[in-house]
Amino acid sequence: MKILPEPNRSASQTSTVVQLRNWRRGISADKVIGLVPTMGALHEGHRSLIRRAREQCDLVALTIFVNPTQFAPDEDFSTYPRTHEQDLEIARAENVDLVYLANTEELYPAGFATLIDLPALSQRLCGISRPHFFAGVSLIVLKLFHLFEPDKTYFGEKDYQQLVIIEQMTRDLDLDVEIVRCPIVREPDGLALSSRNVNLSAAAREDAQVLSRSLFLARQRWQAGEVIATHLREEALRSYGTEVDLDYLEVLDRDSLEPLVYIQPERGAVICVAANVGGVRLIDNIVLEPH
Ligand code: PAF
Repeated sequence: MKILPEPNRSASQTSTVVQLRNWRRGISADKVIGLVPTMGALHEGHRSLIRRAREQCDLVALTIFVNPTQFAPDEDFSTYPRTHEQDLEIARAENVDLVYLANTEELYPAGFATLIDLPALSQRLCGISRPHFFAGVSLIVLKLFHLFEPDKTYFGEKDYQQLVIIEQMTRDLDLDVEIVRCPIVREPDGLALSSRNVNLSAAAREDAQVLSRSLFLARQRWQAGEVIATHLREEALRSYGTEVDLDYLEVLDRDSLEPLVYIQPERGAVICVAANVGGVRLIDNIVLEPH
């Protein structure tokens, strides 16, 4: 497994971006390259993305970078879990070909001024309490797409809004990469895996179950034939007491993320939720499959 920057070469000798481009240029055009962008603190959810990439691609590249532009000054950038050694072990075990440990100075040098904005999709849901977030995500993802020129790239459905925004950006900018959606991986009690889960106290970990429980209940009603979105929303909201600080819970169109009143059975919908649980922001969602 190749790690960039190369551990024994200081970044000033040859920039990591140059090392990365050299690696990329050395790969013949008939090889399929899969990219798995992450912020590290790898868990089973990330492993499922890497495995899917491994199945579908000749070469798998993993990036690990806690991207500062997607955090506001009052958010958890400094406490976001960083577990580099463990992450590298996981990458080795999953047979990753290249790990790129990006660094802020190189990706955002002094004078960096570009913004990527998809206002219609990014100013709702998580974008209301985190107005800077999706601009930061879109920017880093676009940069990584340019650096790696991957054939396929892998994102988890847990970050549903992020996924829809990346798909939209990819279409709008004619980026020649296939976005592969990978299903949410859950703990046995339903909690969606997230790097932030390690920051939950024991009590908050218990409370956090309410997110997935509420979504499963609403899905049951959908499967039983309910098509009025407000009824499904009320069903889900009934699960919540005061243990979590709910940010939003919405029944939405799967593509436009517009809130729905009535769900067309042949289109289905998605229910997205975000909450602050014991000081940790968690998100989850469930797709209501068409029937
Ligand atoms: O989902 C994440 O881990 C991050 O938002 C991403 C896509 C790696 C961009 O920093």
